[in-house]
Amino acid sequence: MQGHGIFARKAPFDGTTECDLNTLGLKCRLKPAYRPVSKPPLQARAPRAIGMPMTHPTRPRRNFYGRLKGKSLKKSQKEYIEEDLGPLSPGPVSWEENPARDPLDLDALFGGRPTWLEIGFGGGEHLVHQAAANPGVGIIGCEPYVNGVAMLLGKIRSAGVDNLAIYPGDVRDMFDVLPEASIERAFLLYPDPWPKTRHHRRRFVTAEHLEPLARVLKPGAIFRVATDIEDYVRQTLEQVPRHGFEWLAERPDDWRNPWDDWLSTRYEQKALREGRVPHYLTFRKT
Ligand SMILES: C[S@@+](CC[C@H](N)C(=O)[O-])C[C@H]1O[C@@H](n2cnc3c(N)ncnc32)[C@H](O)[C@@H]1O
Repeated sequence: MQGHGIFARKAPFDGTTECDLNTLGLKCRLKPAYRPVSKPPLQARAPRAIGMPMTHPTRPRRNFYGRLKGKSLKKSQKEYIEEDLGPLSPGPVSWEENPARDPLDLDALFGGRPTWLEIGFGGGEHLVHQAAANPGVGIIGCEPYVNGVAMLLGKIRSAGVDNLAIYPGDVRDMFDVLPEASIERAFLLYPDPWPKTRHHRRRFVTAEHLEPLARVLKPGAIFRVATDIEDYVRQTLEQVPRHGFEWLAERPDDWRNPWDDWLSTRYEQKALREGRVPHYLTFRKT
């Protein structure tokens, strides 16, 4: 695949690097030709005095407790990953590719369109649905589970959408390199529930995730959270407003009914089959 419309870059191809999926034995060749061409302004990059040697930020220790890989990928899915992931790269995000943590150039990536973010897109049904329904927006999806990434890539081929960028890794790495106040909407749909009390600190709705999320969202940006776990609702309503968000619900129907543009996800379907009740929480960044 030779670039998805707005992802096509004019810079010459001068070699390849390999992304995080190498740790899973899959080769994903990221072509520098698809990375943003223009450098961000000097003051937006890692601080250093002009003429001094570059010192990179220290890589934080980040544990990831979820699954990275499920059953073996089909031949077609391996092809999607090898052929499509490079052209869909949002630019250098991982610590290996971008040790200086230079911010992404979102204007170059999406041609100046507003940028949305889906965190943990699973099989990608909601992400592709939103991309197809909102061609005037560019959406970045992050998901470290390689089987989910492969499912998404199959759906992108069928839908033919060209306003997506995919990072097959941890959204915390993405937060490092997103410019401040650059994201207009974020989706957190059925985050891992971590039901045991001693595991609640692994949940997304903790300061480790909410602080950088708040930094990259624009004032007035919308943050949607869907969950079927009542204790997750409790923690979300307790934690998210502490990080500069207001909950927009005015009546019970506002959290009982899905959003007008909702597309039910695989995880929601499973929750409904098992008798659990979805909650739809909408926040605005103040
Ligand atoms: C319960 S699944 C829900 C998937 C999908 N949103 C849905 O509703 O079907 C939660 C997803 O979040 C992903 N996830 C967990 N931690 C993440 C992180 N730090 N960055 C990105 N994705 C993450 C997991 O890999 C998993 O696919």
